[in-house]
Amino acid sequence: MSTQATQPKYRLEQKRNIAGTFPGPKSVELNNRRSAVVAKGVASSVPVYAADADGGVIVDVDGNSFIDLGSGIAVTSVGGSDPAVVAAVQEQVARFTHTCFMVTPYEGYIAVAERLAELTPGDHEKRTVLFNSGAEAVENAVKIARVATGRNAVVAFDHAYHGRTNLTMALTAKAMPYKTGFGPFASEVYRMPMSYPFREENPEITGREAADRAILAIEKQIGADQLAAILIEPIQGEGGFIVPAEGFLPRLAEWARENGVVFIADEVQSGFCRTGEWFAVQHEGVVPDLMTMAKGIGGGMPISAVTGRAELLDAVHPGGLGGTYGGNPVACAAALAAMDTMKEQDLAGRAKAIEAAVLPRFRAVAEETGVIGDVRGRGAMLALEFTKPGSKTPDAELTKKIAADCLEQGVIILTCGTYGNVIRLLPPLVISDELLQDGLDVLEAAIRANV
Ligand SMILES: Cc1ncc(COP(=O)(O)O)c(C=O)c1O
Repeated sequence: MSTQATQPKYRLEQKRNIAGTFPGPKSVELNNRRSAVVAKGVASSVPVYAADADGGVIVDVDGNSFIDLGSGIAVTSVGGSDPAVVAAVQEQVARFTHTCFMVTPYEGYIAVAERLAELTPGDHEKRTVLFNSGAEAVENAVKIARVATGRNAVVAFDHAYHGRTNLTMALTAKAMPYKTGFGPFASEVYRMPMSYPFREENPEITGREAADRAILAIEKQIGADQLAAILIEPIQGEGGFIVPAEGFLPRLAEWARENGVVFIADEVQSGFCRTGEWFAVQHEGVVPDLMTMAKGIGGGMPISAVTGRAELLDAVHPGGLGGTYGGNPVACAAALAAMDTMKEQDLAGRAKAIEAAVLPRFRAVAEETGVIGDVRGRGAMLALEFTKPGSKTPDAELTKKIAADCLEQGVIILTCGTYGNVIRLLPPLVISDELLQDGLDVLEAAIRANV
């Protein structure tokens, strides 16, 4: 199934191996130290501590080797220590670590902006501004849209996740654990119905009709002339890897264009080859006005971006955008190298091959077991939604149990979803065929063992 243009060479042996107890003694000791000093609010899904990572494996402090089907939440698409990223970081870090682009600028920032102008959809003139995290990119995209339009309101969708800062909490849909107790939230955020094909009351509704449902609500509840931006994840991430029905995104983008509303695609999780294209909007030929990007772009180094129409970004007065660390030179070097690796190893093609290995296999498992209501996703952003047999009632308990069983067998699997009933598969795109198959075998066995 491999479509890798250049087969990656791995530094660590690409195998699953749980030696001895789980979690091992060194992880237990670290966990004890952690409880005494690290805030409880930062939870980890895995009880072991990382010592090394490469390709598709993470090795813990006790020498256990795990298959990574989560990529640190869609970040290490090029693997945990891509040689090109490591070399670029080492080279840059030995020259200078920081000057602050707002004080003494440097070439790496410009090179990343040039690359993003090339890679993002649309042949219009573009500008880019760099930040550190996905949430920061989203916050700034909203700032830009407000200045450029002179309007305040922002639309986000059911099941959306955009981050943990005050504005991005307001934009995020799910209360627990992201919002509960953290209010009051930023104002002028309006939530609209998403296209969620598996959970539509009317299963016949088309993507265009679902968009028109949202548009009608926007016109009634906000008024197009008050709306600065529509913000949407082209495939929703934390909300459950929800792929909207075909036609939903193009119709929203079309309406936004007709009404002078800025269409912002939040590609923080879905970008950078993850879905089989550089960006998820490309599956339907949508050209956003602004795009927010983070995660995969940096090969593991913290960097994020807003790229979009020159007239929108340039509407902001000098000094209105920025931040001490935004577009840090080491992170820029990593991003350039990660994007090179994605291109050289055709990681978008690789994501498509991963989709082909997963979807038919787990659709058959769904049919046979009756506990998976929906198997969906694009490229290597794939999901299994667990439901009680014969219904669409979410089964979060089973989902949790399967993920925990996989972990004990040496496979790191993440869950997500508004109802906590989705297993999401986000392997590094450089994972070997053998390792992926082994990880999927473990997952399939865990599902079958629990029904
Ligand atoms: C679509 C989307 N937007 C924004 C964010 C926030 O990114 P960060 O955690 O880097 O702030 C995430 C993180 O999961 C995300 O998936």
